[in-house]
Amino acid sequence: MKAKAIAHSNIALVKYWGKKDPKLNLPAAGSISVTLRDIYTISSVEFKDKLEKDNLILNGKPADTLKVNRMTSFMNIIREQAGIDLKAEVVSDNNFPTGAGLASSASAFASLALAGSRAANLSLSNSALSELARKGSGSAARSIFGGFVEMQVGEKSDGSDATAIQLVDENYWNMKIIIAITSEESKAIGSTEGMNHTANTSPFYSQWIYSSQIDLDDMRSAIFDRNFSKVGEIAEFSCLKMHAVAMSANPGIIYWNSITVKCIERIRKLRQSGIPVFFTIDAGPQVKAICLAEAENLITSELKEIEGVKKIFITSPGSGAALLEE
Ligand code: PMV
Repeated sequence: MKAKAIAHSNIALVKYWGKKDPKLNLPAAGSISVTLRDIYTISSVEFKDKLEKDNLILNGKPADTLKVNRMTSFMNIIREQAGIDLKAEVVSDNNFPTGAGLASSASAFASLALAGSRAANLSLSNSALSELARKGSGSAARSIFGGFVEMQVGEKSDGSDATAIQLVDENYWNMKIIIAITSEESKAIGSTEGMNHTANTSPFYSQWIYSSQIDLDDMRSAIFDRNFSKVGEIAEFSCLKMHAVAMSANPGIIYWNSITVKCIERIRKLRQSGIPVFFTIDAGPQVKAICLAEAENLITSELKEIEGVKKIFITSPGSGAALLEE
């Protein structure tokens, strides 16, 4: 009862920020993302006799209680689906350095969904895997698939249709995602806490959710039309609205630092000079520049020049979750 799986991280082009049902972890609106080739988690899960509790080794070290509890809750869902009672030995490794500001629950829970379900002898479809991964983390539902992926909000109250689907695969568009690390400190407010606080206190929350539906339709068409500048325009719009609605919570949440703003300014300046490049930012201060392959070198050197940018990671669209061993 053992399996090992890989899943890649993703970044949202139309952001998810708000839950309709926190218990089932159902999103209040859909989202669209790109899976990232070079940022991934490999997890192995083994259900064993004689274990008293689940164990988690994360990046070579025993994980803290908070992480173990979150993993155990997730394993409980798998155990219930599989009708087993055994505890699990879980080993999870990120290929990116810890504390680099890239930590992602998306690759972690997508890899755990695949490895955990296989170790429990469940054979789930990608759609069922996506539903399972969603219960660990909303963005993890998208990391089951490669390329450009849409998370569907779904209509059913049990959440069984709140799953992701692939729009186009990782070979569809030769894009580059250049990530500027502006701070290596761990974020003060996690995404679940941040989105719940926003939903409870921002006077703009319902408008944010309403306008996300329009962005989803526009983004889907822009991707199918291979209209890069349209994709960029909508992605920046969605990103800035997500941060604006978080800032309008009470008290407001600010994920950016001054270097984040410098990166935004530089990317917009480059675009004004005729280079197709746009930015997106998740619940943290790192800036992700998105461009076509021919602009990679220029954008990378421009971002490196900004004082305070600590590291740069370059990646492109990547594949979905895959089983490595069982
Ligand atoms: O999957 P979670 O619960 O960590 O939320 C992800 C939230 C954002 O990264 C900010 C946006 C997104 O759609 O990925």
